[in-house]
Amino acid sequence: MALRIPPSGALLRPPNPVPPTSRRPRRARGNGVAVAHAIASPKLEEGNLDRPRWAGETPLSRLVGALIAFKPLYSLMKVGARNVLIKTAEKSNVPWRDMAKKILESDVYEELEKIRDPSVVYPDYYLNPFHAYDDGNLSWLAAAEAEAATMSMTRRAIPDASSAEEATQILRGGWLNAIEEYRQQYSANTAVNDILDIGCSIGVGTDCLAEKYPTAKVTGLDLSPYFLAVAQYKEKKKGRRNPIRWIHANGESTGLPSKSFDLVSLSYVIHECPARATIGLVKEAFRLLRPGGTLAITDNSPKSKVLQELSPVLFTLMKSTEPFLDEYYLLDLEEALQAVGFVNVKSRLTDPRHRTVTGTVPI
Ligand SMILES: C[S@@+](CC[C@H](N)C(=O)[O-])C[C@H]1O[C@@H](n2cnc3c(N)ncnc32)[C@H](O)[C@@H]1O
Repeated sequence: MALRIPPSGALLRPPNPVPPTSRRPRRARGNGVAVAHAIASPKLEEGNLDRPRWAGETPLSRLVGALIAFKPLYSLMKVGARNVLIKTAEKSNVPWRDMAKKILESDVYEELEKIRDPSVVYPDYYLNPFHAYDDGNLSWLAAAEAEAATMSMTRRAIPDASSAEEATQILRGGWLNAIEEYRQQYSANTAVNDILDIGCSIGVGTDCLAEKYPTAKVTGLDLSPYFLAVAQYKEKKKGRRNPIRWIHANGESTGLPSKSFDLVSLSYVIHECPARATIGLVKEAFRLLRPGGTLAITDNSPKSKVLQELSPVLFTLMKSTEPFLDEYYLLDLEEALQAVGFVNVKSRLTDPRHRTVTGTVPI
């Protein structure tokens, strides 16, 4: 999917902090790709709680945990969750099965051995079944379905968008705006020459970063060589002038040189990680950033009204395929960044479901 992310300096209009009326966004124009500045902002609303009742250590959360722990029920829920995901995606015009088929029938397989680093040691949490895939992220099926799953997540976050492309523009635009506005305030004298996208998956967010900062050298890093093979396969087809570099490594110990990046991003990664891995990722980002550099983490917002009001069926299905959600919601992320040494730590809702948390390495 070709996205138009305006380069840094040509900012998208930020999402309204005050909810607008439930205007429908304007339809995509021209070649079918929405023009970013013409898109209506979504409603950004916080709920009354610190985190959803279905997450953390509440009785409701424990009840859902007990249901999921009951193996026969879990197996059913896993299949149910997968079917719901595919059905809702296809209903909102994300052709899940066709997209996956196209990848599975392509030459993507040739990329695996080029990208895989056999010395990578996978952390325990990564080797468990995950997202209803028995091999977690270490499979071709998960890699082939990742783009449709990403589009579907975006559609759910921005339900009023007129197309998947428009939803992506809004969701990724809000995130990139938050990063750039934050940088203007706290790192205005620091150029963005080197960007690292940790947990890049098949590179949807990495691609947006490369479009936003067209002169920067962009690196995408992930633990799944299958996801990276898809990222590299797609990148080759694009034939970009300034191609993204893809690295197979653990984001907690990348082996990359210290102080070699100006922006490190973790998008939609840490809700999939136990808290100890999240801390490891934040520490590694601190080591990799130059003084004045920015860490940007975007993920589910515990304060999101939409997430706090999610229906029991939906949150139970979601929890059945996301084993670390409770840990994610219990971790005070802002405090964790500060404890590692980041300063000017800020958090804001950047779409109705997600927050972007930013911090700077002191100069
Ligand atoms: C939901 S996907 C990320 C989506 C992507 N960043 C985006 O913006 O569309 C989460 C990714 O985190 C990766 N991941 C999880 N733990 C990791 C770790 N310790 N190091 C590197 N990648 C990791 C997974 O392999 C997966 O590709």
